[in-house]
Amino acid sequence: MSKKTPYNAYVSAVGHYFPDKVVTNKYFESYLDTTDDWIKTRTGISERRYLEKDQPTSYAAVRAARMILEKRGITADEIDLIIVTTVTPDMFYPSTATRVQKELGAKNCWGFDISAACSGFIFGLQTASQFVENGTCKKVLLIGADKMTSIVNFEDRNTCVLFGDGAAGFLLEPTEDKSIGVIDAILNIDGNGGEYLYQPGGGSLNPPTHETVDKKMHFVHQDGKVVFKEAVKGMADVSYDLMQRNNLDSKDVAFLVPHQANMRIIQATADRMGLAMDKVMVNIHKYGNTTSCTIPSCISEYFYDGKVKKGDNLVLSSFGAGFTWGSILLKWAI
Ligand code: UT7
Repeated sequence: MSKKTPYNAYVSAVGHYFPDKVVTNKYFESYLDTTDDWIKTRTGISERRYLEKDQPTSYAAVRAARMILEKRGITADEIDLIIVTTVTPDMFYPSTATRVQKELGAKNCWGFDISAACSGFIFGLQTASQFVENGTCKKVLLIGADKMTSIVNFEDRNTCVLFGDGAAGFLLEPTEDKSIGVIDAILNIDGNGGEYLYQPGGGSLNPPTHETVDKKMHFVHQDGKVVFKEAVKGMADVSYDLMQRNNLDSKDVAFLVPHQANMRIIQATADRMGLAMDKVMVNIHKYGNTTSCTIPSCISEYFYDGKVKKGDNLVLSSFGAGFTWGSILLKWAI
């Protein structure tokens, strides 16, 4: 699919940051009615990384951003726009993008946050690409960052074992070569899914009170079974549709890059696309579900391991709270 804009947006650098603190399944065994075996077989997760109490989401985002700038060999002054995708902003306002901008010392840019839960990064990628494709921005820093431990109820075995903290992202730049970069996107939201995965407290609907805290309304609430079923269908369908619409066979796809929420959802999506698991990026076993960070961190790790090559077709796919879901075809350019 060739776009009518003057440029395509391509990824000129990628980076990630995970905290040092590792928490294995054994930790949860020590105080909850759960087992290492249950967590591994039902989710694919073995361990996750946690930020410290005094390290907010921007702490991880800034570190991922610094890696990206270093790899590209540019200074923060050259960035035109910073977009942070997150459901765990440092504060409701100012945006986490402004906090990242300040820490980086990026003096010539504007920026904002995007909230789309687990689809945050691909919604952010489509948004960031528009500014590059139409010639408005030359260097856009897009970071997916979440400190999920700040909104997880550590007494709820249904959710606390699933999540981790981290940040990762891209630098996006324009190219006149229309065959590379962000090629196509199919994105969706459906608010009917809102009651199955949400954080009810803290916003204008249920402002913080002693009662909202007592009722644990500031934590992640999930009906795992419903979300699982919808995620399998949503991610598999949209990834398959994207392949069909771009005339891609399974042999044309170098990697599926799925959101890392559950290994069984990842496998079902790969099956539908006709892809063997060696063509699927996976890091859920090491980090759990890091929400906005899962997709860019997979790409960053696989790229620096030498597994992603220039010209590779990557199909990025996600499903999350909202519901939000979608898929992006990215032709790797570096
Ligand atoms: O990233 C955003 C999108 N989120 C997702 O895509 C997550 C989608 N959902 C899932 O990944 C899965 O539904 C879970 C991993 C959350 C749960 O797995 P499941 O196979 O769907 O389990 P379930 O919810 O059907 O629960 C089966 C049993 C229940 O016990 P009973 O009612 O059958 O006695 C749960 O209470 O497993 C129990 N259970 C656990 N047992 C041990 C739930 N969590 C745990 C646990 N350890 N940590």
